[in-house]
Amino acid sequence: MPEQTFLDIRHIEAGYGRSQVLFDVNIGIPWRGGVAVLGRNGAGKTTLMKTIVGELASSKGELFLDGRDITRRRTEERVRSGIGYVPQEHSVFARLSVRDNLAVGSLFNVDPAAVDRILTIFPKLGQRLDQPAGTLSGGERKMLAIGRAMLGDPKLLLLDEPTEGVWVGVIEEITERLIELAKQIAVVIVEQHLDLALRVADYAYVLDRGRVALQGAAGEVRSDPELLRYLAP
Ligand SMILES: Nc1ncnc2c1ncn2[C@@H]1O[C@H](COP(=O)(O)OP(=O)(O)O)[C@@H](O)[C@H]1O
Ligand SMILES: [Mg+2]
Repeated sequence: MPEQTFLDIRHIEAGYGRSQVLFDVNIGIPWRGGVAVLGRNGAGKTTLMKTIVGELASSKGELFLDGRDITRRRTEERVRSGIGYVPQEHSVFARLSVRDNLAVGSLFNVDPAAVDRILTIFPKLGQRLDQPAGTLSGGERKMLAIGRAMLGDPKLLLLDEPTEGVWVGVIEEITERLIELAKQIAVVIVEQHLDLALRVADYAYVLDRGRVALQGAAGEVRSDPELLRYLAP
């Protein structure tokens, strides 16, 4: 586990009704840097993100954020405590314009300087401010979702498959922004693109059927002979 843990996930179990998905998950997220969560489809990555943000209640275990027990805190409070979340699906309001999506991200107190910073990071959005988000390309939509989450000024950003459905030409742009971001705050990235994930992340956890099967520094995990077995469909 990395030193100086900001989010401490201890013995977490969670699932849907009677079907348990996560089993005794222990993960440490440091104050800064990228942490990758890897694993094949259905391994429980999205379930873990939802449990961290409080969209899904854990049935066992504890979550500590900066030493405070947030296990029973509501999503809203967790977000206010510094957790930003870019969900895998439905990450933008399709009918709202780019501008209004960003307004939602800043909880309507739109600080023009903060929005300008987002537009500097993702200039493509600047050309689309009055366009409904539903008409954006996959990549622009992800940029908008990331930008919106950043407007909440998170200390920890959870990104669930930020390049899914994104044209390869734009993936590099998003990756570079995430690498920059991970120098300033904690970034948790769930990714199918192994190389991309391990460029953003310093540390990686691999989930297999809801359990942490492998963990270590990004370079070690990449060269672990077991890795491909855990990622194979
Ligand atoms: N809303 C849900 N209700 C019931 N089962 C679900 C739900 N969402 C996910 N699951 C199941 O939980 C398991 C883990 O899913 P998920 O966390 O989405 O995996 P991943 O993100 O790693 O692909 C899968 O078996 C999936 O079918
Ligand atoms: Mg998922």
